[in-house]
Amino acid sequence: MIGSAGVDALNNSSLPEKPVNLSKSSSDDIPVAVRDTPDTKHPSRWKPILIVVSLAALGGLPVSLMLSAPTPPRQTTASSSPKPEATANPTSTNSESTNTENLLGHLPYQEAPPSELQPITSDGGIKMRTAAAEKFKAMSAAAQANGIILVPISGFRSLEDQKHLFFDVKAQRAQVATKRAEVSAPPGYSEHHTGYAVDIGDRNTPATNLSQSFENTAAFKWLEQNAARYSFEISFTKGNPQGVNYEPWHWRFVGDTQSLETFYKAHNLPRP
Ligand code: DAL
Ligand code: ZN
Repeated sequence: MIGSAGVDALNNSSLPEKPVNLSKSSSDDIPVAVRDTPDTKHPSRWKPILIVVSLAALGGLPVSLMLSAPTPPRQTTASSSPKPEATANPTSTNSESTNTENLLGHLPYQEAPPSELQPITSDGGIKMRTAAAEKFKAMSAAAQANGIILVPISGFRSLEDQKHLFFDVKAQRAQVATKRAEVSAPPGYSEHHTGYAVDIGDRNTPATNLSQSFENTAAFKWLEQNAARYSFEISFTKGNPQGVNYEPWHWRFVGDTQSLETFYKAHNLPRP
């Protein structure tokens, strides 16, 4: 799937209108039944959520960066462009403020424009924002040279994709919103909307996909040692301040100003 890594990901053709077989590990945000698999080649109305397959706190942003033009509530820090209104924090009034705009611990992000996305899999099923995609492919090639196949499971996700993953799966599992939010962001609040986030698996151990056991894989250990060289970092660490479950498979790109602003202004956390 990953073109450069020679791994072919499945597109999401198998994603049902109504999810079935919601067998899952306790931590997965993408049910097995709605993940793509490497052999599936049919188009889908869903954006790819494939099977073959972040952290620091930053505060004290300059006042000039915090006090940009007022914006509607849904304008977020995760802008697809560096326009001031898209990087404003509507709830912030000074450099010491923290971001209180969240939903069940998740922070608001905007969808990346389609024109800014490019495939990271050979079938085009999984996409990331261009800068992130290029670095992801370079990282995958480097991993492959070390005998590690990084498998992208999910990259960019639309609001519709996330609506399904949050609400439909929540209903299928009869989960309360707070429980669902431990593993899945509500639509409008997923890092996957930005095109900078990617869920990664280890081709040798597909059973660990979207599972905390992924941390025991060679791929994860390689990522821990090397991902920063490609400006990727894990988003949801153990005990993360958002209260989201630990997701060793979920990595985000912070290798340019826009991505850095997207995530660190979104958090706007006080210095430790
Ligand atoms: N699983 C992460 C939190 C998401 O749904 O974006
Ligand atoms: Zn993810």
